[in-house]
Amino acid sequence: MSRNATYLACVGEKHRRDYGQFFTHPAVADFMVGWALESGKKSIFDPGFGLGAFFDAIEDRSDIRFSGCEIDPKILDFWKSATQRKIDFIKNEDYLLSWDKTCENIVCNPPYMRFQKFLNRDKVFRVFLDKLGLKLSGYTNTASAFLLKSVSEIGNAGRVAYIMPLEFLNTGYGAIVKRRLIEDGHLVAMINFECEKDIFSDATTSVGIVLYDASRYPKYVDFHVIKSMASLATILDQPPVSRVATCELDPNSKWLPYFQSDTFSVRSEKTVPLNYFGRFSRGIATGANEFFVLRPSFAQKFGIESSEVIPCIAKSSQIKKPVFEDEDCEMLIKNDVPVLLFSANISPSKQAARYIQQGEQKGYHKRFLTKSRNPWYKTERRDPAPLLLGVFSRGGYKIIRNKSNALTLTCFHGFQPNLFGMKYLDHLFLYLASDSGRAIISLSKRKYGDALDKFEPNDLNDALVPSPKILDALSKDEVGNAILHTKKTGRIPAEIDDFFGKLKIPNGAMGLHFGHRIEEHP
Ligand SMILES: C[S@@+](CC[C@H](N)C(=O)[O-])C[C@H]1O[C@@H](n2cnc3c(N)ncnc32)[C@H](O)[C@@H]1O
Repeated sequence: MSRNATYLACVGEKHRRDYGQFFTHPAVADFMVGWALESGKKSIFDPGFGLGAFFDAIEDRSDIRFSGCEIDPKILDFWKSATQRKIDFIKNEDYLLSWDKTCENIVCNPPYMRFQKFLNRDKVFRVFLDKLGLKLSGYTNTASAFLLKSVSEIGNAGRVAYIMPLEFLNTGYGAIVKRRLIEDGHLVAMINFECEKDIFSDATTSVGIVLYDASRYPKYVDFHVIKSMASLATILDQPPVSRVATCELDPNSKWLPYFQSDTFSVRSEKTVPLNYFGRFSRGIATGANEFFVLRPSFAQKFGIESSEVIPCIAKSSQIKKPVFEDEDCEMLIKNDVPVLLFSANISPSKQAARYIQQGEQKGYHKRFLTKSRNPWYKTERRDPAPLLLGVFSRGGYKIIRNKSNALTLTCFHGFQPNLFGMKYLDHLFLYLASDSGRAIISLSKRKYGDALDKFEPNDLNDALVPSPKILDALSKDEVGNAILHTKKTGRIPAEIDDFFGKLKIPNGAMGLHFGHRIEEHP
């Protein structure tokens, strides 16, 4: 068994997760240490030492001074006994609470956990405000806080290399980190691993490397994508997927799209945010689907009255066609698919009361969500949403024009139009289903590991859609025929794709300048 595996077997999964212990692949450690040492500075600091992946990368370099810190005494003891080494160059301390040092180079794979789970969170928030004048958001994760601290500690000629989840590039709490990375103009490049499973086998988020060089003021930041580990060593010699002028980088916008090769910008004069027409919100969260979602045959056998169940899509796979109508829902019920939401009211029928009692015997009333409801079995009231968008997707989201009365659980976000949006539901559906609509909406997605994409309702509500003037250019007949065509073929007509294609300007605002020599100002 390898040293890392022996350690993990020794301490168990809970300990590892409590400390955010994931170990850096040796090839990644070599790359990061090699890049940092190109600064010419001969020392390296690792703020989360773990089992010394970065230390291993300089083992045979007696000219390099290595130091670091580590909060977990257990992992340090394990490392000491496994390597028979003295540990005096690693301090057993909390990096986020030990201040007032400067370092030449910092290389780090920071612990990744939500601040909500972090023991010293209040102290850390206070010290960040005090030392850096930064007010961290409660959503910040420890990795972002590590990075913010490291870039404040680097001397004026050193380098910082971090391998970390990149979701901060697309989220609200990440703005503070992005602003800090570009305000001094030292951000050099970001590398996104599309092969993240090779690096962290249980990664559930996209992972990448952030490279920051305090000795340089690059005019451009390069965004690279790694498709296989074999290309890592030479990645910085390859043209980036996109190269963005530092002065064009906006900390408040989403940066993950810079890793996409088909970069384009959106014609702002022809678009408005989706919330102009209405809003997406999440589907119904029952807190215990096993109890609340019933098969029609079960409801019938139990004698639950038809007024005490509502048709409800519980899984994305239950909708197979882009236009979903009452007859499709009836077919699901006829085929005994579990699509009935138990929704008894305060005075349930005798049979429903018996079912509720059975649920209590099984403890469903004590679940996280159910225990906060009164009565616990009364789920949220929603109207059927005319547009449904799948929460998680691989290779393109699922968009449904729902013409049925079915509700949906959390597998779909549901769009409710405002008064103004009512007349544009079919138009919006066609846009969201078009290639250009998908590309524009996808600028807002959060990327999870293994090509898994996720949308939060507000990502969608802020996403850009055509303005009413553009939508009005499609006649009623054109829209009606397009919906019929989609119903029949499962795809929107090619003319509609072309129509919405006008909203994109290929490679516009990204400022791609491959092959040019980039001048740097001192
Ligand atoms: C993701 S692991 C990386 C370990 C190692 N450097 C590597 O690259 O394989 C992060 C390490 O930071 C340690 N750690 C967690 N919180 C810390 C803190 N506040 N201060 C210092 N170390 C911390 C964890 O115990 C863990 O060993």
